[in-house]
Amino acid sequence: MAMTGVLRPGHAQLRVMDIEAARKFYRDVLGLVETGVDAQGRVFLKAWDERDHHSVILRPADTAGIDFFGFKVLDKATLDQLEKDVQAFGLKTERIPAGELMETGERVRFTIPSGHAIELYAEKKHVGNGLGQLNPAPWGPDAERGIAPVRLDHGLLYGPNVAQVKKLFTEVLGFFLVERILGPKEAGEPEVAIFLSCSHKTHDIAFVEHPEPGKLHHLSFLMPTWERVQRAADIMGMNKVSIDIGPTRHGVTRGETIYAWDPSGNRFETFAGGYQPYPDAEPITWTFEQFGYGLDYTTGKLHDTFLGVVT
Ligand SMILES: [Fe+2]
Repeated sequence: MAMTGVLRPGHAQLRVMDIEAARKFYRDVLGLVETGVDAQGRVFLKAWDERDHHSVILRPADTAGIDFFGFKVLDKATLDQLEKDVQAFGLKTERIPAGELMETGERVRFTIPSGHAIELYAEKKHVGNGLGQLNPAPWGPDAERGIAPVRLDHGLLYGPNVAQVKKLFTEVLGFFLVERILGPKEAGEPEVAIFLSCSHKTHDIAFVEHPEPGKLHHLSFLMPTWERVQRAADIMGMNKVSIDIGPTRHGVTRGETIYAWDPSGNRFETFAGGYQPYPDAEPITWTFEQFGYGLDYTTGKLHDTFLGVVT
């Protein structure tokens, strides 16, 4: 498929309550690569196989959660056009100057109906994956340090007005609906969870209907294989990481997964597998009665923490 418009999740800024503990966790346990610290004390990191300067930003704060989730778009002309399109949809946009995030160009930020700050940007410094562009080795030392995911894969955000959010992402930002979970029959089966793709992935972002706006459910990091998810579980055990669910398989997206919490209580996922939908794929629907199997296909269990604990 030709990749135009919004390309992929580019970064997420997390609030963390103990920056040194968070830094150590994201670098040494999750195994991201630290690429910088700015004057505000924010720590910038990337997964080993990502080419751009950073994908995760840790900001020291008094509460956990997410400040914003950003998508990289094809080029500056795309950024200008999408800014106009988002405004025409009825949202206010703000331009954040180049350099406010390390090595990142101008960003367009807007608050979507679920209360989340979403950003678009076209430029971020290419730092490479450490293997070079000429006759590269398949992996290097960073691919073996800690859990070592290959990339920031997607985010799951909790907030109200999921129907409006779906309209924005599918009609303005060029995403398509891959899977959805319906609410109870007696409520008329509204879409309570939507999994949206701008690419060939089962989801680049997902939303769950939730009364409180702007909440983070998890950031997900891609592992190359199910075996590497199981190795991640071993590393979590060795480091006494607090695990929410897994290792198990999702029904939704067929991903193989573990959910766990960082030292501030932000949930993250190590994820592999799934399938590769094209934009003409018919969306898959999960009924409310089968939601447990959508979440945890091995047990069919609806985990209370998964449904209720967000930052
Ligand atoms: Fe996920």
